[in-house]
Amino acid sequence: MISRRSFSKLLCASTGALLTSTLASGSSAERETWWKTAVLYQIYPRSFQDSNGDGIGDFPGMTSRLQYLHDFGADAVWITACFDSPNADNGYDVRDYRRIQPEFGTMEDFDRFMAEAKKQNIRVILDMVFNHSSDEHVWFKQSRSSRDNPYRDFYFWRDPVNGGPPNNWPSFFGGSGWEFDKLTGQYYLHHYATKQPDLNWENPKVRKELFAVLNFWADKGVSGFRFDCVGEISKPLPFRDMTPAELEEDGNTLRTSGPRLDEYLKEMRAATRAHPDLYFVGEGWGMTRERIVRATDDRNRELSSAFRFDFQLLDVTEGWRKVPWSLPKLKAFNRENSFPDNPHVWPVAFIGDHDFARAVSRFGSSRPEFRDRSAKLLATMALSLRGTPLVYQGDEIGMTNFPFTDVSQYDDIGVHNLWKDLVLTNKVTAADYLSNNALTSRDNSRTPMQWDTSPNAGFTKSAKPWLAVNPNYTTLNVKSESSEPDSVLAYYREMIRLRRSKEVLVFGGYQDISGDHPKIYAYHRAAPSGQAVVVLNFSDEPVDFQLPSDVALKQKLLSNVSEGKTPLSGTLHLLPWQSILFE
Ligand code: GLC
Ligand code: CA
Repeated sequence: MISRRSFSKLLCASTGALLTSTLASGSSAERETWWKTAVLYQIYPRSFQDSNGDGIGDFPGMTSRLQYLHDFGADAVWITACFDSPNADNGYDVRDYRRIQPEFGTMEDFDRFMAEAKKQNIRVILDMVFNHSSDEHVWFKQSRSSRDNPYRDFYFWRDPVNGGPPNNWPSFFGGSGWEFDKLTGQYYLHHYATKQPDLNWENPKVRKELFAVLNFWADKGVSGFRFDCVGEISKPLPFRDMTPAELEEDGNTLRTSGPRLDEYLKEMRAATRAHPDLYFVGEGWGMTRERIVRATDDRNRELSSAFRFDFQLLDVTEGWRKVPWSLPKLKAFNRENSFPDNPHVWPVAFIGDHDFARAVSRFGSSRPEFRDRSAKLLATMALSLRGTPLVYQGDEIGMTNFPFTDVSQYDDIGVHNLWKDLVLTNKVTAADYLSNNALTSRDNSRTPMQWDTSPNAGFTKSAKPWLAVNPNYTTLNVKSESSEPDSVLAYYREMIRLRRSKEVLVFGGYQDISGDHPKIYAYHRAAPSGQAVVVLNFSDEPVDFQLPSDVALKQKLLSNVSEGKTPLSGTLHLLPWQSILFE
């Protein structure tokens, strides 16, 4: 029970100003662009469904869950890195771009998945890791074999400087960004792990090879691609040292400032012109807003959209340290990410992916009694913003962080490398590092999908899944949520249904009506076909919110709290973590 004494006196000053949100609506061409109206679902294949008992998810497993995805309301699935890879970075180090990761199955398994997905009207998007390959890719094996090998220029090789690396660039995963190769006496560049050498897009042969890979998969019926670290494919040459300020941010801005990015993206579009409907979504990691705008403005014919990480980075710094986040900052991001200044840019709205800890554990309530309610509140937000919503596997049932206590429980190369860099060198204590990683590590989101109450959550018949299942699966799983009308899963389904039936939720204009309120986030969306108003209480306390006097509400469409009457004007009494969607 909520005591009246804890009732917050916070009353949001009505914005006073008349609503100015423009009446945006989708033009008919826009409505026909499938990826604008679609709901995307991200599958992390290793952790989705194992079919053969080896503890690793696979394509037959995914095929067996297509009905679930259809019933959920997914229009398209993004299959996270699924090509042949030695797994230095779980598939983000590709050995062969035309072969399915053998652990996930064969090409026949993939083809069957495609055919079954088509029957369920689900499109498939593949992950293209084109900034780098595996060091086990045949191109790199050739490249490193001698200085005059025809593949030498497929990668960046440089002479040592003063007996050390060519410059001070760090790797995102710890250590130097350059690796010395004894055989030829030169260093090669790797923004990520040493087993992920950066491809040299300056070389037209590299681009030709990569574009052919896109057509290979598009010919197989794939509907789009997610381009991994796409901002980094054009390098700012010549390689100079990063300044101390640049080092502070791991060189994100510098690494994504290469002058040829737009040219490469345009070329990529042109090279796949036989498939004009392809959705190209970039991972905008490190890219500034301005850079992203240029790469995604539809008049430029480059990317369709890009993931922006400002929201995801609100509560984590140095790649592992947890810092407090604030609602005004989240609002500020959503406001500018709706691109009121540029209708030619179409954003992606997401609360989680495979590179961050679980959304509900980060932005929801830490109190168990509010876990599900806050997961629903986050769903309300993610599915009511302008842009294509992405639902990350497991978020739709409110999956949470894993109770990590020891470094040996992690799989992520980033966690292990920084452990070496920071803890083993006594820069950071083990306790500090571990307590922060338990809150921030991306392995939190990579634990197996929780399907039911059988051993290992129905993910695998193996006694040992590749990464441990979260022990809360006995109460938090798809099966139990499927039969509960009040579950997080049922709520997601309902939100998706509403989004589909209300054009304003997809294409409408956006205006914040909660100002700097530290606990309430509310916004108004407007289109000629109607309006929507979303009110979210991001706090463990009840809060009163004064609806702006110029908003005339018709009715409540959905709330994550069923009790009580909701007024349509004046003051709303919101319970902790309550969300309400009106029209
Ligand atoms: C992207 C991927 C991430 C991977 C990195 C290197 O950020 O999402 O999982 O580690 O690129 O490929
Ligand atoms: Ca398997």
